[in-house]
Amino acid sequence: MKYIEAKNYNDLSRKAANILSAQVILKPDAVLGLATGSTPIGTYKQLIEWYEKGDIDFSGVRTVNLDEYVGVTPDDPHSYRYFMNTNLFDHVNIKKSNTNVPSGTAVDMEKECERYNNLISELGGIDLQLLGIGHNGHIGFNEPGQAFEKMTHIVELGESTREANKRFFDSYDAVPHYAITMGIKAIMQARKLVLIANGSDKEEIIKKAIYGPVTPEVPASILQLHPDVTVICCFKD
Ligand code: F6R
Repeated sequence: MKYIEAKNYNDLSRKAANILSAQVILKPDAVLGLATGSTPIGTYKQLIEWYEKGDIDFSGVRTVNLDEYVGVTPDDPHSYRYFMNTNLFDHVNIKKSNTNVPSGTAVDMEKECERYNNLISELGGIDLQLLGIGHNGHIGFNEPGQAFEKMTHIVELGESTREANKRFFDSYDAVPHYAITMGIKAIMQARKLVLIANGSDKEEIIKKAIYGPVTPEVPASILQLHPDVTVICCFKD
């Protein structure tokens, strides 16, 4: 595991964007696993800037996102599909048909999980997966206490996750109770992982995840067993 402490959020974002962009330069049709949330916004902004300068070409890139809220339609501003379109896809030359976010509104959600797993296999697996981390150690929406061996599945969101995400909604009650997420097993199958964490409130969970015991109680602790992980942190507010 490589551990990098960034000078500030801009530095963190540039370092993460550098790794993503190197991946795309080395493999123009790379499969990028992407995350939503506050942390990767700066990374995506940096990638857009480099795209505008002509330094990155997304025309061959394929993407798979980690997760989506159940019951939220893609055109809803709270959806992760909407987030990805507005924060990255709409601003670069990626083909929308090459971008994938699990559906939160499929009629049969179990079938949607299966479809998403098959899709990742058909794409040849994920070359590089970008991850954020929740205060409870979740990666994707894999909440504490769940089995490590899950592929894409439906998860009930814990109170602390709904509390943390209420900033994007009108109230705590408006935060969906369920999400569809790539499981830990699917994340661990990515060839390269980049975990980004920003802010003093993430320091404690990062230390637990990196130095603590590997346990489903801290889902991100499993990353200690992955052969190619880069953790980029900035604990300054
Ligand atoms: C988002 C995701 C989540 C977030 C995590 C941190 O797709 O999978 O695991 O990465 O909740 O979110 P922020 O970056 O908002 O602190």
